[in-house]
Amino acid sequence: MGLEKTFVMLKPSTVARAMIGKVICRIEDKGLKIVAMKLTCIAKEEAAELYAVHKGKPFYDALVQFITSGPIVAMVIEGDEAVKVMRKFIGATNSKEAEAGTIRGDFALSNQKNVIHASDSVENAKMEMEIFFAPEEILSYKRADDNWIY
Ligand code: CMP
Repeated sequence: MGLEKTFVMLKPSTVARAMIGKVICRIEDKGLKIVAMKLTCIAKEEAAELYAVHKGKPFYDALVQFITSGPIVAMVIEGDEAVKVMRKFIGATNSKEAEAGTIRGDFALSNQKNVIHASDSVENAKMEMEIFFAPEEILSYKRADDNWIY
C-alpha cells in the first residue's frame, strides 16, 4: 500500500455556494482521511506561489483575483495513492467536460470556478501543503474505519 498525502483546496465559489459539507462528504465517503484543514483567505503572494506554473497564461490574473476573492478551505488528505485518487475523483479542469460522478462533473459548469483543487503530483502536493500548513498542523490519527477501508 502506498500511503500518500495530497493538498486539496475548496475554492471561494464552493464556500460561497455553501457546498463545503457536500464536497467533504464525498472525500470522506471515498475512504480518504482529512489530516489537516482550515478555513482561510489566500494572500496574493500565496496565490502566486500556488499557481506559479500558470503565470503568463491568459487566465492567470483572473485566477489569482478569483482565488483571493473570499475564504477557501485548505486540506491535507491522506490515503492509498491519494494524489492519483483525488485527481481522478475531482474530474477534468473544465467542469463542463468533467465526467458525471466526479466532484467537478456533478457540482460545476465553469473552467475557473471548478469547485476544488487537488495536487497533480507528490512533489507538488508537498510544496502546496507547505504553503498553508506548518508540519505540526498535519496530524496522524487512527479512524475507526481504517481497518475496513483497506
Ligand atoms: P486548478 O486545478 O486549481 O489549477 C489551475 C486552475 O486554473 C484551474 O483549477 C482552474 O481554476 C484555472 N484554469 C485552468 N485553465 C483555465 C482556463 N482555460 N480558463 C480559466 N481558468 C482556468
